[in-house]
Amino acid sequence: MGSINVTFVLGLVVAGLGAYMIYPMLSTPPVPKVEEKWWGAGKPTKEDTRIRDFKINVSEDVLKDLHHRLASHLPFQEPLEDVKQHYGMNANLLKKIVDHWKTKYDWREREKFFNQYPQFKTQIQGLDIHFMHVKPKQTKGLKVLPLLLVHGWPGSFREFYEAIPALTTPQKDRDFVFEVVVPSIPGYGFSDAAVRPGMNPAAIGVIFKNLMSRLGFNKYYIQGGDWGSMIVHVMSVLYPDRVIGVHSNMCFVNTPIANIKMFMASIYPSFFVKEEHINLTYPLSRIYSYLLLETGYMHLQATKPDTVGVALRDSPVGLAAYILEKFTTWTNKEWKDLEDGGLPKKYTLTNLLDNVMVYWLNRCITTSMRLYSEAFSGEYYGQHWDRLPVKEVPSGCLRARHEIAFSPDFVLGEKYENLIHLEDYDNVGHFAAYEEPDLFTKDVYNFVDKVEKLPRGPKK
Ligand SMILES: *[C@@H]1O[C@H](CO)[C@@H](O)[C@H](O)[C@H]1NC(C)=O
Ligand SMILES: *[C@@H]1O[C@H](CO)[C@@H](O)[C@H](O)[C@H]1NC(C)=O
Repeated sequence: MGSINVTFVLGLVVAGLGAYMIYPMLSTPPVPKVEEKWWGAGKPTKEDTRIRDFKINVSEDVLKDLHHRLASHLPFQEPLEDVKQHYGMNANLLKKIVDHWKTKYDWREREKFFNQYPQFKTQIQGLDIHFMHVKPKQTKGLKVLPLLLVHGWPGSFREFYEAIPALTTPQKDRDFVFEVVVPSIPGYGFSDAAVRPGMNPAAIGVIFKNLMSRLGFNKYYIQGGDWGSMIVHVMSVLYPDRVIGVHSNMCFVNTPIANIKMFMASIYPSFFVKEEHINLTYPLSRIYSYLLLETGYMHLQATKPDTVGVALRDSPVGLAAYILEKFTTWTNKEWKDLEDGGLPKKYTLTNLLDNVMVYWLNRCITTSMRLYSEAFSGEYYGQHWDRLPVKEVPSGCLRARHEIAFSPDFVLGEKYENLIHLEDYDNVGHFAAYEEPDLFTKDVYNFVDKVEKLPRGPKK
């Protein structure tokens, strides 16, 4: 045998091995079976299927304890000169926030605000799941469409309060209106936390499917950002016959093919990416170094949530710093350069503290952070949910310019095979509904209008 032949054979072997190794990465993995587990303490018992009214009513003792802690925290470390938010939450900003909390934030008044929408709890797979269920008051001549809204971390059901009125009130030129269901993720807000490992986005998707069934909804729309977007993605993969349409304000695509495409396109970006999106997509080195800068918390929470949780659960000021830092950088990357973290441009301190209170009153920061550990566990990651596309379910993306990571048009199809709606917003970040309730609401209406106008043939 001549040397050419040896090289040729070796080449074939290497190519074959390469294809053998890469092929499974590029092909669509099977949809995993997700069991309906019992997540409460003890052995499974007969489920209490009642839907119980729920009102937030915090005891005086809890409020006294909070004020004691706010009054007695040790002095903060002085920030370095002129660093704004570049070393994390700036203590000068934190002082203002805590001062507002102590002197202007009136929980009893906020409690009334929180209780303006009907809330309930119901037991699902051993856990009490908390949710708001808001029906439109006027429905004459209109279709009433059920819509599940799913929050993420470090958000809560509070993020949707400003969007709910428009979603549940008839709009001009629309022949439908929504009936919204806004749950708290297990381990978040007023929902119970799992007592054993495994409460990952797929497990949450099962619970929310069961919640919708219990409310009598077998077909509905779903919407989510942050973890909410992962959860509604999983639901669209698992229950394509139930989900009429899926809308997300974080249509982030992270499949091997998408990443290869992104890399290839970096050679000649303007051929693949719209002019106005080039800076959001390339150079990849800048994008990745930004992600590294902003995702330390993720690594921490995916590995040691219970350790950092001890301090955050014990200190309301520590908790506020940890949570509200995200509301500066994730709303707008450039707000890091601002003394006030940019917060007054979009939020009031009262609204932001509402969300912090959902975590404080429920002592749920540790259980909320565990979702990262569950989602990045070898077992869950090994199921390759990232690579499972939403096939026939009509999908819509609200793409915010200031979102932490940007997915350009040419990769979105890897995850959303039936993407019928894609709208860009320049002045929106990670918390679309909370930041810009009017834009958010309008985008959801626009998307659903498109879905409702699709021809509905019999399903294959
Ligand atoms: C909250 O609970 C207290 C004590 O149980 C009760 O007196 C009060 O009326 C409740 N408030 C609301 C708004 O339900
Ligand atoms: C993209 O970045 C370059 C270099 O910083 C800048 O000159 C250009 O104006 C930016 N383009 C857009 C569309 O923002």
